[in-house]
Amino acid sequence: MKIPNHVAIILDGNGRWAKAKGMPRTYGHIKGCENLEKICSMAKELGVKYLTVYAFSTENWKRSKEEVDGLMKLFRNYMKKCIKIASDNKMRVRVIGDPTAFDEDLQKKIKELEEFSSQYDELHFQIALNYGSRDEMKRAVRELALDVKEGKIDPEEITEQTISDYLDTRGLPDPDLLIRTSGEQRLSNYLLWQLAYTEFYFTDVPWPDFNKAEFVKAIEKYNGRDRRYGGVKEDTNV
Ligand code: IPE
Ligand code: IPE
Ligand code: MG
Repeated sequence: MKIPNHVAIILDGNGRWAKAKGMPRTYGHIKGCENLEKICSMAKELGVKYLTVYAFSTENWKRSKEEVDGLMKLFRNYMKKCIKIASDNKMRVRVIGDPTAFDEDLQKKIKELEEFSSQYDELHFQIALNYGSRDEMKRAVRELALDVKEGKIDPEEITEQTISDYLDTRGLPDPDLLIRTSGEQRLSNYLLWQLAYTEFYFTDVPWPDFNKAEFVKAIEKYNGRDRRYGGVKEDTNV
């Protein structure tokens, strides 16, 4: 079985999972976060090298204050727990998105985790927090425009690679496989530039129930895809 080098996941369905059990949405997030603790070792065991998960979007601030506060509390805890997960899996962690909207203490925890884990490179784990692809592009364009203004870059020399280099995902390969859990078949503002040639896999399984067997199913499905550009079957399709 060919293992995708980079898997991106939209972790969806915590709220519906909890509702189906007669529990509050926040309970779904607690269980979803527990699953997030396990996904890295699953990816490592399967041989995935890059894993990028969507945990909080720029649009998610519109949810109730109670839900947003609950999520922030979970992220705080997760950043601490992730230090151990990073050392267990020899995993480098990066947060993509705009962390400046978070409280100072959470921003500090994110930095600590990123700095601690920068010694590792067996698995690269990206967590999208306060991430929106359009916001990422807006920030990238602003940065690029400033560099043009300061004479650091000649507009004539801007290539697709230049644009990639200004995105939060700079230096990372594009995802080979995108998984969205819980039935919705949309991108919800996730990695619009980076997913240009990615294979999509949608499953009805809600995120808290997404386990290794489901991960394997997604990779098996990916193996059956006929990719024109990219990793799988490229030898038979050029
Ligand atoms: C995904 O689950 C987690 C976040 C977006 C933070 P949801 O909270 O979107 O769950 P559903 O889609 O309402 O079931
Ligand atoms: C996408 O899920 C964002 C994350 C998983 C963090 P949402 O549940 O927020 O997206 P929509 O509202 O269904 O588009
Ligand atoms: Mg959702």
